[in-house]
Amino acid sequence: MKPKVPVIAIDGPSGSGKGTVARHLADRLGYHLLDSGALYRLTALAASRRGISLEDSGALAKVAADLDVHFGSDAHGEEQIWLDGQDVTTELRTEETGAGASRVAALQPVRDALITLQRSFRRAPGLVADGRDMGTEVFADAGLKVFLTASAEERARRRHKQLKGKGIDVSLAALSRDIDARDRRDSERSVAPLRPAEDARMLDSSGQSIAAVVNAILGWAKEMS
Ligand code: C5P
Repeated sequence: MKPKVPVIAIDGPSGSGKGTVARHLADRLGYHLLDSGALYRLTALAASRRGISLEDSGALAKVAADLDVHFGSDAHGEEQIWLDGQDVTTELRTEETGAGASRVAALQPVRDALITLQRSFRRAPGLVADGRDMGTEVFADAGLKVFLTASAEERARRRHKQLKGKGIDVSLAALSRDIDARDRRDSERSVAPLRPAEDARMLDSSGQSIAAVVNAILGWAKEMS
């Protein structure tokens, strides 16, 4: 039997550092990268642009199944994402789009519509996948599963800094409230709730540098191979 392409699944709440850590890991290992949250964000954004209600699960699933998306980077190596041929990078990262994403992500037909697209990112030599259900649903057979957390204050602070860096201005208190509401919805929903896989390694990134977190995960990846 052909050996399966290795997957490192990184799950956790927003602001835990998953995205940054996943990008660094993929760079270090020469692996592909899946930012699954971006797909839910793109679905919410495409729907709102087309005037589709965030409750119309049938129409939303169709939007998800037909996403015309392109991932790339600008001249400085910063991520750039195009939807229907239009650069939506900044709009995609707002907390408003995040909240819309969390609403559409609670609908099973939308999750079903995105599963094939997510699994298509699994290509040699390997994949680092970040999200909420990478280790529990999409790549339940991943060789390494990490559940990344951080204190609520630190998560809000990190997101605030990240958004500011992208030119998005929002108060820390408002952001804290929004993140809280989103995490609660993600954890309490009945389909694919945010939770660690039984065989996930727990990692608290509070007070730790990106490099320290990345190195810890690389150590586990080495143990595994
Ligand atoms: O990670 P990010 O903040 O971009 O995710 C946006 C939203 O998409 C999350 O709050 C969550 O509701 C949803 N999501 C999900 N499953 C994933 C990734 C993201 O439900 N694998």
